[in-house]
Amino acid sequence: MDKYKIGIIGCGYVGLITGVCFAELGNKVICHDIDKEKIVKLKQGIVPFFELGLAKMFTKNKNRLSFTISVEEVIENSDYIFICVGSPSRNNGEADTTSLFRVIDQINSYVKTYKMIIIKSTVPVGTAKKVKELLKEKIEQDLIEVISNPEFLREGNAIYDFMNPDRIVIGADSFKKAKNVARLYQTFSCPILLVSNEDAELIKYASNNFLAMKISFINEIANICERVGADISKVSYGIGLDHRIGNNYLQAGLGFGGPCLTKDLKAMIAFCKRVITYEPHLLKAVLKVNELQPELVIKKVKEVLGNLEGKRIGILGLSFKPGTDDMRNAPALKLITSLVKEGTELIAYDPKANKVAKELLKDQIEFAKEPYQVSYQSYALIIVTEWKEFLDLDYEKIKSYMIKPILVDGRNMFDNDRIQKLKKMGFQYFGVGRNLL
Ligand SMILES: NC(=O)c1ccc[n+]([C@@H]2O[C@H](COP(=O)([O-])OP(=O)(O)OC[C@H]3O[C@@H](n4cnc5c(N)ncnc54)[C@H](O)[C@@H]3O)[C@@H](O)[C@H]2O)c1
Repeated sequence: MDKYKIGIIGCGYVGLITGVCFAELGNKVICHDIDKEKIVKLKQGIVPFFELGLAKMFTKNKNRLSFTISVEEVIENSDYIFICVGSPSRNNGEADTTSLFRVIDQINSYVKTYKMIIIKSTVPVGTAKKVKELLKEKIEQDLIEVISNPEFLREGNAIYDFMNPDRIVIGADSFKKAKNVARLYQTFSCPILLVSNEDAELIKYASNNFLAMKISFINEIANICERVGADISKVSYGIGLDHRIGNNYLQAGLGFGGPCLTKDLKAMIAFCKRVITYEPHLLKAVLKVNELQPELVIKKVKEVLGNLEGKRIGILGLSFKPGTDDMRNAPALKLITSLVKEGTELIAYDPKANKVAKELLKDQIEFAKEPYQVSYQSYALIIVTEWKEFLDLDYEKIKSYMIKPILVDGRNMFDNDRIQKLKKMGFQYFGVGRNLL
């Protein structure tokens, strides 16, 4: 028997995964998106993006899932309405909440019976308060509650993360309202935090900003390693063994990207400056280190190859991380833009993201159908995304295709044994922050 009637507004990564997972938990879920093509595909049973395990779970639960282009239909047919629309960066870094407020206007027009409006999108502190002001009449008529319930899933691991969260954060202006939403997560064994809307909104930003800080921190230490003859893989391991620090998000490389870490860092910096007139020195440094990281890799390539003009370089991996085809804020984009400016001829391959990348980069670079193609007549290969399959490529074959056997491991994915094998084959290997004696 279906448990609860859940509505999802915005069927992107978070919305669709939330909808499919709630269906898996036995709920009846109705999903809406403004993008009609997306809804047509979903109605045909086609998942519009790649995420590990999603298509399978989607098919398994198709009887509990429905899709509509009408927001009204979602509002009528659900008690808990999750808003999962995007909150992208504006040019000045602020979070653009236009989509969220468009949905709130529609909710204001269509709600006739009691509904929980749950904001899952990542939105700046104070947004739920503004939403409540807009929905004031409906709230006074006891028709609407506004809840903040940020999402912490990671793309590439999204289904697992949704089903096995470290915590659920529910922000509301009363314990009773928050508990009502906590029922949806009752089968989970993690802590469920019942807090204010402001607490919930800030927990989300602070978490992502902290993760970004860990990555920029280890990249800074990696840059120091290169100058003092230390090896970041050992240093990072040594730091991470301290349980107060932990070893997650301590892998040096080309820096962070994706739909959240950069956007949420920029949004927090902009919020501090404009809304609360506070200068976030640390957060600004985290962003700066990340922006410089791909440039340091290019510098390394130039030190070996000299002028890059007209030289062909192969790129392995484009998505912002393995397990997804998401290219939003992918470090590959920054790296490729800079290399194209240098006059480099680029050819790239990604196991999943070629199509998405082609739409973004158009004919600025060539795309390979298979990984070996990027090595033909190349002066260097740069690993940008640590897809596991890159470890198992035939590097003898790759070397035989290359003009110069230079391998830049922008993700430090090769361990010492593998690096020694590559060196024996004749490769010149460069990692990030690695001193390989
Ligand atoms: N992607 C992640 O890993 C992740 C993780 C945690 C939190 N978040 C947050 O969740 C939110 C959604 O992120 P996402 O990655 O799913 O974004 P997305 O861009 O993949 O999806 C947003 C969806 O909302 C739809 N949409 C936009 N305006 C709409 C409207 N007015 N009515 C109905 N649908 C509308 C879009 O068509 C799109 O399908 C963001 O605030 C993001 O910061 C994302």
